[in-house]
Amino acid sequence: MGVSSSDPLLLRAARGEVVDRPPVWMMRQAGRYMKAYRDLREKYPSFRDRSEIPEVAIEVSLQPWKAFQPDGVILFSDIVTPLPGIGIDMDVAEGKGPIIASPIRTQEQVDNLRPLEPEESLPFIKTILQSLRQEIGNKSTMLGFVGAPWTLAAYVVEGKGSKTYSIIKNMAFSDPTMLHQFLGKLADSIATYVRYQIDCGAQVVQMFDSWAGELSPQDYETFALPYQKRVFQQVKQTHPDTPLILLVSGSAGLLERMALSGADIINVDWTVDMADARARLGKEMKVQGNLDPGVLFGSQEFIRDRIYDTVRKAGNRGHILNLGHGVLPSTPEENVKFFFETAKQISLTAAV
Ligand code: CP3
Repeated sequence: MGVSSSDPLLLRAARGEVVDRPPVWMMRQAGRYMKAYRDLREKYPSFRDRSEIPEVAIEVSLQPWKAFQPDGVILFSDIVTPLPGIGIDMDVAEGKGPIIASPIRTQEQVDNLRPLEPEESLPFIKTILQSLRQEIGNKSTMLGFVGAPWTLAAYVVEGKGSKTYSIIKNMAFSDPTMLHQFLGKLADSIATYVRYQIDCGAQVVQMFDSWAGELSPQDYETFALPYQKRVFQQVKQTHPDTPLILLVSGSAGLLERMALSGADIINVDWTVDMADARARLGKEMKVQGNLDPGVLFGSQEFIRDRIYDTVRKAGNRGHILNLGHGVLPSTPEENVKFFFETAKQISLTAAV
């Protein structure tokens, strides 16, 4: 493994090296809570333009980097971005999220999907990642991300975000053969996409299985876990040294099962105490998290206490400090700034 002390902090922590302080970044750190983002959104009202025109996506990714110098800079994109490349048209609607023009519900539609060829359908990702990596150098870690098969299938089958997941669950619980074929195809294309992101400069990749927490543990083992494994196994075959993070929202009942996915790092949300998560996952598993994003609506003293509490509970190795999920759109920017400044003053070698 290419261990080098010139590697950025987050990458070193993600590999399990002992570091002076936990690296810190924030999910959804680029986005609506930032005035700079809202201003740019006026100029480019279409989400696809903001995320697919390289100069604009680069600028958005760099907005939090310039404002707060996080230890990770994440590609500005969406989990549905690769879907057109496999034959699924989509848009991302303001205030709603992904919209799928023709939801996939028949065998014929599944048969007609094509494997992702990222050089052809996602050339902008290469430009974005290469430019960002060059811009941040060794001062921060370049983070890539993808959606997991179950979560992408949920959008594509439902046609949009859902509260009940009744259409995909109807499919899963009455005639699952077609759904399994679809999940398999998605897994192979997602693995191709992760490899491409790494080849273009991503140093750590996070997979969002945001809606896998909507499944019971036994259904998670049938419809989510096997396909998470399929993605991670394929990526590890060609890119064994790139740390992979797995996120599931509402994962308190699933933590031990998430650890079976082959991920190197498990994102923990705030419904689990970090000390309990550590005990449940064992010493060898690395963790990310896990402040309630709502903490950023509290006083600075409260924010500071929660940061220190989390770091104390996570221990001094294999921890990436983060919220348990994305920063909320109405979060005060000065509290985000305070979060980063406070986190960066921590010393793991001194007592916290
Ligand atoms: O973290 C970052 O800074 C990178 C940006 C990022 C976006 N989407 C940009 C975005 C990331 C990591 C995502 C991933 C994503 N997209 C997930 C997984 C993360 C999670 O929250 O679990 C999911 C489930 C989606 C699907 C999606 N896209 C949703 C639920 C929404 C929000 C709908 C809304 O408006 O509340 C989107 C749209 C979206 N993607 C926005 C951003 C900044 C907001 C729309 C906008 O800014 O115009």
